[in-house]
Amino acid sequence: MSLYKKIVLIGFMGTGKSTVGKRLAKLLEWDFIDTDLDVERITGLSVSEIFRRHGEMRFRSEEVLAVRRLVGLEHCVVATGGGTMLDPENWTALTTDSIIIALYASLDTILERVGNKNGRPLLKNNREELENLWLKRQKIYAKAHLTIDTTEKDIEEVADEILNILRSEDYEFTGLAQN
Ligand code: S3P
Repeated sequence: MSLYKKIVLIGFMGTGKSTVGKRLAKLLEWDFIDTDLDVERITGLSVSEIFRRHGEMRFRSEEVLAVRRLVGLEHCVVATGGGTMLDPENWTALTTDSIIIALYASLDTILERVGNKNGRPLLKNNREELENLWLKRQKIYAKAHLTIDTTEKDIEEVADEILNILRSEDYEFTGLAQN
């Protein structure tokens, strides 16, 4: 049995990592950290602005730094960006002491949820490009300890499902109440 210090949510854009993460953190009375927001806080730029002004590579370097800032923290729920775990350095940093939970949704569901909202530069790609990205990334997301299908579920349901699994199965956390 491993002793986990953090819960890390991974998955494609629009799978609910931030909303579910916030809810989970509230239920657990843990801190919530969103790597995109952390990058925005440090750079003083929105994710879209970083992509537009400096390009994706600069965003990815800021993302690596945001993940490095998480090392050693405990009792927190982390929502990663959809591409964070593609970087092996990020994967290693987060898998050493965290349970990795992938949130899954079909591409149609994702497009329904976030289709015309701004703020996600990669969603500007056409459907075929997005589908390729979604497909390619499933292999990475599939390496998570747990995968939760979020289709047709609301935030509360997904958060409750995760907590129930964590409490009922063989996962041990520093400080997770078992009630
Ligand atoms: C990205 C996902 C975004 C954000 C950036 C890149 C990706 O985060 O990190 O736009 O590569 O999938 P969300 O998954 O929170 O939308």
